[in-house]
Amino acid sequence: MGKDVIIACDFPSKEDTLKFLDKFTDCKPFVKIGMELFYSEGPAIVKEIKAREHKIFLDLKLHDIPNTVEKAMVSLSTLGVDMTNVHASGTIEMMKAARRGLTRSDGTSPVLIAVTQLTSTAQEQMQRDLLIPHNLEDVVIAYAKNTKAAGLDGVVCSPLEAAAIHKNCGKDFMTVTPGIRFSGNSADDQTRITTPERAREIGSDYIVVGRPIAKADDPVEAYKRCIREFCN
Ligand code: C5P
Repeated sequence: MGKDVIIACDFPSKEDTLKFLDKFTDCKPFVKIGMELFYSEGPAIVKEIKAREHKIFLDLKLHDIPNTVEKAMVSLSTLGVDMTNVHASGTIEMMKAARRGLTRSDGTSPVLIAVTQLTSTAQEQMQRDLLIPHNLEDVVIAYAKNTKAAGLDGVVCSPLEAAAIHKNCGKDFMTVTPGIRFSGNSADDQTRITTPERAREIGSDYIVVGRPIAKADDPVEAYKRCIREFCN
């Protein structure tokens, strides 16, 4: 599995997104379309970015009863995305239903991964607000094991957790890691963060980078810096 950098296209509109992507004249980054853009522009934005030959991670983090998630995944399976996701806290049964729904009639399926704990969640919040009394890393590993048991391809987690997940779930179990910041950058609302270089050392397979690229003075250079520090 090749390592890659996925740019989070967290923009409010199609115009803002395409204006941003137009800056990348000599490369076609793997991009993540999340709730903000998908809810404002609908499936058409996925098709438009696909037509520009970008790989797409559709980050909608489904979490509902298994039947609803399965039917939603049937809809998403027609969009031609390369990767999509659910919340592991929806249970093993829900994740299995997601996989069934996403599998097309020819047996192929986009990569399907599950969010363990959001990288914005600190251990105290998880214990106080979600009433989960364990260590955060133990919860993340237990959710990753559930994800593997459900037949999914990997998890979204903090880069700080990637090594422990590979140790527990195998090196081929994918770790896709947001919470990336260049040294000296603001953490924004993220709490479990690290640099692209350190994410590579810990063993992330993909890093997801939003604001450090989108808000940089030169986004293309910031993206290339991520590639240099993470992929090489
Ligand atoms: O701007 P920033 O680099 O923090 O963006 C991170 C992206 O990754 C956001 O689009 C966020 O929704 C997403 N994400 C995350 N933590 C997760 C799952 C997804 O930050 N556990």
